[in-house]
Amino acid sequence: MKYAKVKKVDAEKIKQLLLEKKYLHKNYGIIKEKEHILFPITDSGAEELSGEKKVEGVDVVEAEGIKKEERYNFLDLLKKVIPEKELCELTKSFDIVGDIAIIQVPKGKERFERIIADAILKTNKNVKVVLKRADVHQGEFRTQKMEWLAGEKRKETIHKENGVKIMLNVEKVYYSPRLSTERMRIAKQVKPGEDVLVMFSGCAPFCCVIAKNSKAKSVFGIEKNKVGHDYGIKNIIINKLKNIYLINGDVKEVAPRIEKRFDRIVMPLPKSAGDFLEYAFMLSKKIAIIHFYDFQREGEFQKSEEKILAKCRELGRKCEIIRTVSCGAYSPRVFRICVDFIARS
Ligand SMILES: C[S@@+](CC[C@H](N)C(=O)[O-])C[C@H]1O[C@@H](n2cnc3c(N)ncnc32)[C@H](O)[C@@H]1O
Repeated sequence: MKYAKVKKVDAEKIKQLLLEKKYLHKNYGIIKEKEHILFPITDSGAEELSGEKKVEGVDVVEAEGIKKEERYNFLDLLKKVIPEKELCELTKSFDIVGDIAIIQVPKGKERFERIIADAILKTNKNVKVVLKRADVHQGEFRTQKMEWLAGEKRKETIHKENGVKIMLNVEKVYYSPRLSTERMRIAKQVKPGEDVLVMFSGCAPFCCVIAKNSKAKSVFGIEKNKVGHDYGIKNIIINKLKNIYLINGDVKEVAPRIEKRFDRIVMPLPKSAGDFLEYAFMLSKKIAIIHFYDFQREGEFQKSEEKILAKCRELGRKCEIIRTVSCGAYSPRVFRICVDFIARS
């Protein structure tokens, strides 16, 4: 379920705007956090707010969609055992990947984690496992330690997004359901007959969503994490997709050995995509569209565009920025952004 996350001070103003634009989802309740309000929004509203119609101060995030009645059940369960003052300081939204709920427990509040986990299991019949984020995404593979809290003892699941099923182990492979709108944004741009490359393909969500929702001729993926690559292969089979080709390896080693050239290259590695731009140019057809992901502070998105243009000059490429979009918040005032640009040789 998509939510528009806004600061409490802006909530009333943004609520009016969401009402005016008919973006609010009427069947779901709002979620209150310590400093933010999450308004439930329709899929088309989420798409518009994540794209060119982005509104300052609004982040589109994914959270468990709680039907108005169920919301009271979940909160009622918590209210019975957690003092109101403590309850305010807990995060009441959580990610759902397949049938696994993933919660974040603030430091010092660990004594409530089992209560929250049990309340989630009792009020969300589709959730079978509750895990807790035990650290941040880290390392080359961008994976995250997860601690089991309640339900079935497993970390593997199948998540559905954009018409495809994605199987993964949430601890061993990077995957974020919050990027589903962004994946569809890219898939919609793919023209019939295109050859597409997804660098850093993980368990292949971008590849599957593009192959399923476009008429691409081929979709290639390169992923270094063997576990992620193996899930990618399984996902091609599960989704019965015929035009995806996955390579297990480091982009820097694989790229020089690929003879094929691409119309479109997706670079979903915001921590260090800049280090791989020369490989994207190496694998581009004479004219190609590149989707370059980066983390950038609010108001400083042009720094990513400058980074790309500088690299283009250095490598003697002509580049033209098409647009820069925010794909959601990464941390307070820092966004995951995507610069779509044309590269010509
Ligand atoms: C942020 S994740 C994105 C995964 C996937 N595209 C998705 O959207 O869920 C980045 C991925 O890049 C992979 N990776 C990191 N460095 C790499 C490299 N040099 N070559 C290939 N893959 C790499 C990581 O293992 C990780 O799966």
